Amino acid sequence: MELKTRVLFVLFSSASFLSLLLPTTASPPVSAVFALGDSTLDSGNNNRLPFTLFKSDHRPYGRDLPNHVPTERFSNGKLSTDFMVSKLGLKDLLPAYRDRRLTDRDLLTGVSFASGGSGLDDLTLAVSKATSLSRQLEDFDEALRRMRRTVGEKNCSEIVNNAVFVISVGTNDMVFNLYDVPVTRRKIEFSPSGYQDFLLKRLGSFIQNLHKRGARRFQVAGLPPIGCLPMQLTIGSIFNGLRRVCVEQQNKDSQAYNTNLQGLIQRLQASLPGSRLAYFDTYNPILDMFNNPSKYGFVQTHAGCCGTGMVELGPMCGKLSLTCPDPSKFLFWDAMHPSQAAYKVLADISEKTVLPHLTA
Ligand SMILES: *[C@@H]1O[C@H](CO)[C@@H](O)[C@H](O)[C@H]1NC(C)=O
Repeated sequence: MELKTRVLFVLFSSASFLSLLLPTTASPPVSAVFALGDSTLDSGNNNRLPFTLFKSDHRPYGRDLPNHVPTERFSNGKLSTDFMVSKLGLKDLLPAYRDRRLTDRDLLTGVSFASGGSGLDDLTLAVSKATSLSRQLEDFDEALRRMRRTVGEKNCSEIVNNAVFVISVGTNDMVFNLYDVPVTRRKIEFSPSGYQDFLLKRLGSFIQNLHKRGARRFQVAGLPPIGCLPMQLTIGSIFNGLRRVCVEQQNKDSQAYNTNLQGLIQRLQASLPGSRLAYFDTYNPILDMFNNPSKYGFVQTHAGCCGTGMVELGPMCGKLSLTCPDPSKFLFWDAMHPSQAAYKVLADISEKTVLPHLTA
């Protein structure tokens, strides 16, 4: 080789070798986790709401948390987002935005804006009096102002760009408007699939609004097998000779919603510049836990741990309820919400299937 060629060759090959090592080609690590949606992500925001019945700020909720404090997580212990932030090395628990003790520094590694009883449909909020998604977005705007004040414009947008936005919502919309209330406006207005289209349209614009604010990485949960939640088993059993079996139609609706949600996620990723969106399948894992208890160390998957496990939820799951001695043997904590053990399973699945897609 001629000297000039050789120099060029060495320069070129070392440059390409370096580019493999330099972080410029790898995607930056997750800076923070911001959660928006319903009770599956609420770590205490509803404590500050005067009118909602969807509260879990009392025993035996939170009995397996550090110090056994009922923080208003709708479970006996941690939520999957708590496991997520600790796996990511950000912190031990994902705090609630409306917690008075929250500091500006706490915001920088993430926070939950979610509210138990929330939904995509305004009529869901009329029932639950929870914090709507548009109000959660306003809380996020306020959080952004606080973060900018703390670390400046540039660092703040970097944090937001590299954060994972975890969204879980939709179950309350289906339950309040189509399933558990006998007569509703939505049942008259919509077919089940028409109603789901309405919900997904609202979810799509919510994600666009987050993207406008700099959000780029999204984990979007699908619907669980709603027909297998203990409350739905109980209500379903009234029409089914008291047999506690999953309500098939509700599970079919969840599957249809999830199929369309995956289509929406693909379209959003294609249209929102720089975005990465991942569908988080909770349907199949929860159904697998429901059907194969022993695989997960569960002994009971058809009823919650709190009280009889068939109807208790919120204020009805209280100090006087007889609680099972070992919630880790239960898929569900109360009549609607997974136990900490189930949330751990879901967090492990998110770590293996969702996060690699968002950070690749
Ligand atoms: C922004 O981030 C850089 C790098 O981490 C840091 O050195 C700097 O102090 C931060 N700016 C502010 C205002 O906190």
